[in-house]
Amino acid sequence: MTDARPAGEGPRVLLGVGGGIAAYKVCELLRRLKESGHRVRVIPTRDALRFVGEPTWAALSGEPVTTEVWSGVQDVPHVRLGQGADLVLVAPATADLLAKAAHGIADDLLTNTLLTARCPVVFAPAMHTEMWEHPATRANVATLRSRGCVVIEPAVGRLTGADSGKGRLPDPDALFEAALRVLDRGSLALPQDLAGRHVVVSAGGTREPIDPVRFIGNRSSGLQGYALARTAVARGARVTLVAANTALPDPAGADVVRSGSTREMRDAVLKVAGEADAVVMAAAVADFRPAEYESAKIKKTAGAGLAPIHLVENPDILAEVVHAARAPGAHPQVIVGFAAETHDVLEHGRQKLARKGCDLLVVNEVGESLTFGAPDNAAVILSPEGEAVDVPRGTKEALADVVWDLVTARLR
Ligand code: CTP
Repeated sequence: MTDARPAGEGPRVLLGVGGGIAAYKVCELLRRLKESGHRVRVIPTRDALRFVGEPTWAALSGEPVTTEVWSGVQDVPHVRLGQGADLVLVAPATADLLAKAAHGIADDLLTNTLLTARCPVVFAPAMHTEMWEHPATRANVATLRSRGCVVIEPAVGRLTGADSGKGRLPDPDALFEAALRVLDRGSLALPQDLAGRHVVVSAGGTREPIDPVRFIGNRSSGLQGYALARTAVARGARVTLVAANTALPDPAGADVVRSGSTREMRDAVLKVAGEADAVVMAAAVADFRPAEYESAKIKKTAGAGLAPIHLVENPDILAEVVHAARAPGAHPQVIVGFAAETHDVLEHGRQKLARKGCDLLVVNEVGESLTFGAPDNAAVILSPEGEAVDVPRGTKEALADVVWDLVTARLR
């Protein structure tokens, strides 16, 4: 039986920590879970405390930390903790912990909890490649997966010693994202609801050159657009990503087209948008460009000041995509705009939605350290029917998933 969660309290996560050196990375994961409103209780094994001590877990979680079933017995913690959890996440899951979990051995608080939890359970293994590949570990992982547990594949890379291979604990960001996804959907598997669809996503920020060394630009990193592209690929879509001035690895499986200025992005987007089922304009597009481009570097003439730079308006790519899509006989498509606002966010968002005429507008508040370049985002997604879907602060992937949920609902 799961206790009812008091109103206003975030999801309850039990963070099991195994005795592996990767325990240090889990401090960062704990931070992220706490900062995003989760209530986290850490249950380390005795050996986990050799790597990161009890005061660290207690201070970061704000909750008591015990490894044994023998303290606070009056509260029956070995049963109650598991029963009341919304998610159990074990990271790092050692070969020993996977074996105990697969065989139902319960010799400390964490392994007892694994037997009483009825919520989704995620294991994030970390160990040397030989241990991960050993038939005993393979069999234990298969057993856990057959019971519905999520066992995340370890990452490949540098291990504890000088050697490299499969067995690294994935980065805290990836674990955080996996935790949110399992809390949200009960599993890591994504619906293939974009299979057979072609989507176009723009990302990054356009730049307008002044001379060969200077430009007018903006702070967009492209992280949100790339997250949209990755999640669309994962949900089965054919993805064209039109990227401007980003320094991010190409999302696997997406067709990446590079652009620099607004006019280059416009040409790249319009070339593919007509046949697409969805167009998501996540890029921050420069509204103006210098009327003249100086082909030689503008020199500083002491005391003379700088000649004014005259700006002319750029094309509005989103408006052009909407215009083309509303023409008679056009391929039906869902068009999503983004609105970056620094103040009166919702009011400007509603006005922008009406002005742009798109199907959905993702409105986020931006600032120097807010959203741009940050791994997380929060937004309100507006529709012309007056709906406002509030997406609380979470990863950019989580926001991307909500965008695709709303897009697929409209495509249906
Ligand atoms: N956009 C576009 N072409 C432009 C400007 C913006 O396609 N020339 C798109 C952006 O990709 C985004 C949406 O329009 O999806 C809104 O961008 P934003 O910069 O917030 O709005 P603007 O129309 O530029 O309005 P303002 O600068 O007044 O806020």
